[in-house]
Amino acid sequence: MTQTKFDVPVSVGLTAFAACSARAVEGSRPDRLMEDPFAAAFIHGAKLDTGLPLTVGEVDQESMLSSRFAGVRTRVFDDFLREAVDDGADQVVILAAGLDARAFRMPWTGGIDVYEVDHPDVLDFKDAVLGDLGAEPPCRRHVVRADLAGDWGSALAAAGFDPRRRTAWTAEGLLPYLGAREEGHLLRTIGARSLPGSRVCLEYMPPDVVATFRDHPRLEATSDTLGVPIREMWNAEPREDTAGLLRASGWRVGFRSLGDCALSLGTPLGDEFATPGDDFTDGMARCGYLTGELTR
Ligand SMILES: C[S@@+](CC[C@H](N)C(=O)[O-])C[C@H]1O[C@@H](n2cnc3c(N)ncnc32)[C@H](O)[C@@H]1O
Repeated sequence: MTQTKFDVPVSVGLTAFAACSARAVEGSRPDRLMEDPFAAAFIHGAKLDTGLPLTVGEVDQESMLSSRFAGVRTRVFDDFLREAVDDGADQVVILAAGLDARAFRMPWTGGIDVYEVDHPDVLDFKDAVLGDLGAEPPCRRHVVRADLAGDWGSALAAAGFDPRRRTAWTAEGLLPYLGAREEGHLLRTIGARSLPGSRVCLEYMPPDVVATFRDHPRLEATSDTLGVPIREMWNAEPREDTAGLLRASGWRVGFRSLGDCALSLGTPLGDEFATPGDDFTDGMARCGYLTGELTR
């Protein structure tokens, strides 16, 4: 385990640490859905003022919920990528990669290129820790330091991305941070660089649910722990329906709710998440994962 401490990102990049901590906690549960051997190293390697939990013994019921949520979504995105690559995608783009260690922990074969896009300070921190660990990915990993609200398509191209190859795109824990215009820009950029047969998986939260969650004590608690106002970073402005935008650009779209995904993993969220009628539980039921395959 690395002992060296590195400077952490500022602002929105700090949210990657909450997701990472939730993965570490989930991986320590006896009934875990996934394990991320890098999650604890990232938290250990961070010059953070607050201690983020790494094991199930350190957390309260609220954090148990976050860990299970992280467990389900990690499995959903892992399975999506595995399937997309099995079906012929040989290029992966992880948008808002944060401290996602898929490039290192998934069993990539056959010379897959994996692109990780995020803010420079997040990827600088990540690479400092990975360098300290001497970690080597079983893929060709490309780090793309870019703002997803800007011209990240050019940065991706400069890193070697080839739009003539079939691509699997993911955005996990990203859309609530984007405004309507930025989300449209993201989807157009993906579409313009995708060959038929390319696939996309987006974690989806309806804007009215983003608005409800922004004011929820659960999000406030995470903001307090990290010392960043996540409430101000989440964008609930009305926007065109994400699935509709994808469909209009030629993607065949599917949606699975978080609850359905949890159920199919054998861990119904009922016991841990549900207080029927509570606005958090009701909102959660409408969140999930949009997938698309480009058919045009
Ligand atoms: C909640 S974290 C999720 C990270 C990772 N996908 C995961 O699930 O562990 C949100 C991530 O989105 C990134 N992000 C948000 N807005 C961004 C933008 N405009 N450009 C680049 N990255 C952005 C943050 O830096 C952060 O790493």
